[in-house]
Amino acid sequence: MANSGQVLIDLQAATMAGGDAPYGLIEDAAIALRDGHIVWVGPQSDLPGRFNGFDQVSLDGRLITPGLTDCHTHIVHGGDRAVEFEMRLNGASYQEVARAGGGIVSTVTATRNATDDDLLANALTRADVLIGEGVTTLEIKSGYGLDVDTELRMLRVARAVAAKRPVRVRTSFLGAHATPPEYKGRDDAYIDEVCIPALRAAHAEGLVDAVDGFCEGIAFSPDQIARVFDVAKELGLPMKLHAEQLSNLGGAKLAASYGALSADHVEYLDEDGAEAMADAGTVAVILPGAFYTLRETQAPPVDAFRNHDVPMALATDCNPGSSPLTSLLLTMNMGCTLFRMTPEEALRGVTVNAARALGLTDVGTITEGQRAELAVWDVEHPAELSYRIGFNPLHTRIVGATQ
Ligand code: NIG
Ligand code: FE
Repeated sequence: MANSGQVLIDLQAATMAGGDAPYGLIEDAAIALRDGHIVWVGPQSDLPGRFNGFDQVSLDGRLITPGLTDCHTHIVHGGDRAVEFEMRLNGASYQEVARAGGGIVSTVTATRNATDDDLLANALTRADVLIGEGVTTLEIKSGYGLDVDTELRMLRVARAVAAKRPVRVRTSFLGAHATPPEYKGRDDAYIDEVCIPALRAAHAEGLVDAVDGFCEGIAFSPDQIARVFDVAKELGLPMKLHAEQLSNLGGAKLAASYGALSADHVEYLDEDGAEAMADAGTVAVILPGAFYTLRETQAPPVDAFRNHDVPMALATDCNPGSSPLTSLLLTMNMGCTLFRMTPEEALRGVTVNAARALGLTDVGTITEGQRAELAVWDVEHPAELSYRIGFNPLHTRIVGATQ
């Protein structure tokens, strides 16, 4: 149980802790856990005697990694958009579908019409698939309510996921996702009359961990996003931004100027933007599921991120429109195959850098003092996690040293 000590032995640990070894790998490692935290990690032969009384659990040579973090999802939403998938296959573009009243707005209608129970049941189905692949921390956004009441309902449902499942949830307020039909053509009024009041109400109820927005021609301008970010700043909330997904409006630069945790998508980001992100310590959250689904051809500037030391994270962006994807392992594979990220960058992208994109410093590596949130895999080398397609080698998750 959470209070008793446990030593995991006979394992190799991809600690992701830096140092010279790729993946921070320790062969023949041991990990001591107590009170839900990692209290020691190192070569098994160096295990200090003070852990002799701890229960020993052999992992039979398996690989252990930090539990995975999916740092960008929209898993709380009503309905699906299979029909739009079909429209796109019949020639319509993502933007055309959105302008025809489909897109994000059609999910808004379905979300408003769904009961809390339905929203939660569907979110849990998606969360279970992610958890089944080793996810221990999950970010969930609002943004399909676009009225005060439904935005708050979405965030409450997101929080309920953590009450129902052994997973940590961080919630992002995404009121500036799209303009709802009742405000069509009045984007500024929507921001002032709905988005900002909803943010204040959600914050007052303790439902917001970060504030997100969608900065794009089909969504909001940098000026409009800045108005929302000014309120986030006033409330002491960190920021994130969907930026440079379909065009370059300078969203990532704006996010960096607010010291945002992350800029996400970023396919159309230029070198200047990457530099601004590096200076601000803003993480690039790369979302290959949306790139793949929309048949985008402009890849994110991975080389610029490397050159400027911008940390790269990878996430599913699980949503009913641009990324109906519930596999973080497939996301890793896509990051490698589509964007030439290395398997080590991919694993870093769903562990330590994903945690950083959420402002979390207590998960993401296997080091002393971190929360005991780990994933055990039936693989021999960490590159296998990115290499296979549609194969799940998870053996077990360890959350809070209870198993
Ligand atoms: O992250 N880019 C904006 N928002 C979502 C898409 C939402 C939707 O199409 O429903 C995304 O890709
Ligand atoms: Fe998204």
